[in-house]
Amino acid sequence: MAWTEISISVTQDDAALAELILEELGALAVTLQDDEDNPVLEPEPGTTPLWPTVQVRGLFERDTDRERVLAALGAVPGAERPDRFRWRNIGDRDWERAWLERFAPMQFGRQLWIVPGGMQIPFDPNNIEIRLDPGLAFGTGTHPTTALCLRWLDSQEVRGAAVVDYGCGSGILGIAAALKGARRVVCVDNDQQALEATADNAARNGVSTIIECCTPQEYQRELADVVMANILAAPLILLAPRLLAALRPGGLIALSGILNVQADEVLAAYRAGLLEAATQTEQEWVLIHGRSDPETPGAPRE
Ligand SMILES: C[S@@+](CC[C@H](N)C(=O)[O-])C[C@H]1O[C@@H](n2cnc3c(N)ncnc32)[C@H](O)[C@@H]1O
Repeated sequence: MAWTEISISVTQDDAALAELILEELGALAVTLQDDEDNPVLEPEPGTTPLWPTVQVRGLFERDTDRERVLAALGAVPGAERPDRFRWRNIGDRDWERAWLERFAPMQFGRQLWIVPGGMQIPFDPNNIEIRLDPGLAFGTGTHPTTALCLRWLDSQEVRGAAVVDYGCGSGILGIAAALKGARRVVCVDNDQQALEATADNAARNGVSTIIECCTPQEYQRELADVVMANILAAPLILLAPRLLAALRPGGLIALSGILNVQADEVLAAYRAGLLEAATQTEQEWVLIHGRSDPETPGAPRE
């Protein structure tokens, strides 16, 4: 497979907007780098790049519509200047190498670890290891939106639960739930490549019998104990009736991919279906989590 990467040079204040736009355009990965060419770094959980100018890079398939990408990036101040962006064609191997150089085992909460192929963590019987290969679908744990979900999941008891991971990407959240003892996990994504990556990663982690992969069209509503969705604010709002309807009375939901400034709007779309709702933040991202009313027989229908 051949890839192309756009890098756009923006001020620190505009980096989150450029990152969000590239993700909404379906970038297979988005990374940040110091524009002065200092070490490559995807922001670690809880940190913010201090560089005054940041290069935001989005990876796309080679035949992607470049005009569409540039038009969407027009919303970033100064992005229309040709000297602010650059396209670069890259091969699979280069991408994998860059990914591996940046990726190390990471712990989320007390028990959950994401461990890249070939790497080890110190033995502790309480650790839960999610083994991930450098697939190209989003979801390696390095993004704050995924980190928020993993930390939330780490703090929940999901043994024996039926779980939905909507917008599964690499399957990272669904696989983590399965390894924590979930009885059944339905992983949904509208990108075939993500579903293939999820199935591969499920096999690699020995949880294929627990995980079922499907498209939104194939998804059959059945009441879940836990629903997780790390997508973006706009699709989360559109999906509110569907995701609430998937939740059994008293079930738990976690929504991520939401910028701080978008939290109220997303909360408003879900509030009617939730008895309790709370937020957790990391950098400019917020996770909304809540519980549906245990007394209400059936959440609002789609
Ligand atoms: C930000 S990634 C999250 C991946 C992973 N769950 C994680 O937490 O890292 C969002 C995923 O949602 C998928 N997606 C976006 N909109 C969707 C929709 N309307 N229905 C289903 N999947 C969607 C994308 O293809 C992508 O794989």
